[in-house]
Amino acid sequence: MAPVPAPGRPHRDHAVTVTAAGLAACGLRLDIAGEVATVTLSRPERRNAMTPAMWHGLAAIGADLPPPVRVVVVRGAGPSFCAGIDLRMFSAEGVPGEAPPPRPADPGFEGWIAGCQEGYLWLRDPGIVSVAAVQGHAIGAGFQLALACDLRILSDDAKLCMKEPALGLVPDLTGTKPLVDIVGLPRAIEMCLTARTVPAEEASRLGLAELLVPAADLDAAVADLTAALLETDAGTARATKRLLAQAAANTLEQQAAAERRAQAALQRERLARS
Ligand code: CAA
Repeated sequence: MAPVPAPGRPHRDHAVTVTAAGLAACGLRLDIAGEVATVTLSRPERRNAMTPAMWHGLAAIGADLPPPVRVVVVRGAGPSFCAGIDLRMFSAEGVPGEAPPPRPADPGFEGWIAGCQEGYLWLRDPGIVSVAAVQGHAIGAGFQLALACDLRILSDDAKLCMKEPALGLVPDLTGTKPLVDIVGLPRAIEMCLTARTVPAEEASRLGLAELLVPAADLDAAVADLTAALLETDAGTARATKRLLAQAAANTLEQQAAAERRAQAALQRERLARS
């Protein structure tokens, strides 16, 4: 009998190998050019609808990222960034080739969700800066994927929607914290509980985009931002992101101390290398 995973411990049903074929099988493509990795959701005929295998594929990419990679761009092929979970998951037939999700009463249910969340969490790693390039719809799990990234570039046709509550689900793919951090609790409640579609211009005003560009300029904007991010020394960029990421949870005194420690560590490491 298979061991029962401890509640909440991540586990995955799909072992994804990070080869072009292994990733294609779960609807993903990975292109690495030096310090930049581009992850593309590649199921445009289904508007890049996501399955657990795709989430496990994303986690496998994160776990296997070559150390020189400093910028990860997340994109969707075709007219939509991502239409969220593949709705066939909720049908009796399910999605061909996908293991059915565990039942909520199963002891492994939370661990199964944790395994899916791993596809998102690595995008916040201090070793990289992640950038979501969003065109068209980003719905549910797709909106949460954009929220999982450090930065978002929206094309002016982008439409964001936290659809889960309308389907009787809570958003559970790591999106609730960044959403509240960015737009504040009242707006997050309003957006989630109405499950309304937020157009690009409003999303930008709410702080959900670092850049809002005409659809035709999305590729150029991604290239420009990537180049600008790579201008900064890699060690300095990583230390700075690590420092910034802890600021919200720290008091001013704690953060000032963290700044001193980070500066000393960075400069000592540089001296040791020179
Ligand atoms: N799951 C499965 N198939 C999907 C899909 C989805 N989420 N979204 C789109 N598709 C399929 C359509 O069924 C259609 O297939 P056929 O060509 O075989 O008919 C194809 O993709 C193209 O779709 P549309 O013709 O609808 O394309 P559009 O550009 O006119 O509209 C859309 C795009 C607005 C995204 C629309 O397809 C849509 O509303 N999709 C459903 C979105 C949704 O409700 N997602 C669930 C979010 S909740 C979530 O994600 C929960 C979670 O995290 C656990």
